[in-house]
Amino acid sequence: MPASQASLVAIYPGSFDPITNGHLDLIARGSRIVDRLVVAVLRNQSKNPLFSVEERVELIAGVVKEFPNVEIASFDGLLVDFAAAKGASMILRGIRAVSDYELEWQMALMNRRLQPSIETVFLTAGEEYSFISSKLVKEVASLGGSISGIVPASVEARLKERFARKGA
Ligand code: PNS
Repeated sequence: MPASQASLVAIYPGSFDPITNGHLDLIARGSRIVDRLVVAVLRNQSKNPLFSVEERVELIAGVVKEFPNVEIASFDGLLVDFAAAKGASMILRGIRAVSDYELEWQMALMNRRLQPSIETVFLTAGEEYSFISSKLVKEVASLGGSISGIVPASVEARLKERFARKGA
């Protein structure tokens, strides 16, 4: 197949515990530059997540319906192995601030060493989302603060429900 006809598949990996409007902005922009974008939720028990992988996948599925070329998966093991299995040649990551860069740089170089055919591509987070992290969202929500406009409405509702139950 000529290169011009080969479809460009990218993996957007992360913990997504839970998905935020910053992630969603990246998905929207990423989906416009590739043919297929696979949002991949890491199955990592060591992080003590608030939401199970299945819940995180469900929350993402509820907010990416408008993007026909976006699919959702979960993975464990090496990201580059998962990317290769999906036929992806690109790993997409968002950079919010300089502080993100060092770890992202390390991961990109390690992934390139492991699998040189897969390129990591960074998109800068939308400026209105550059301060958002899942960690802060959970902290604010757990303390009863407003996270409106920072996460999708469906995620806000789930967070409220989760923390109401925890507090009960
Ligand atoms: O949302 P996060 O927690 O910043 O995402 C981190 C993630 C999932 C991209 C990273 O932990 C990862 O790729 N884990 C898979 C294991 C792996 O491949 N490790 C070596 C690559 S540096």
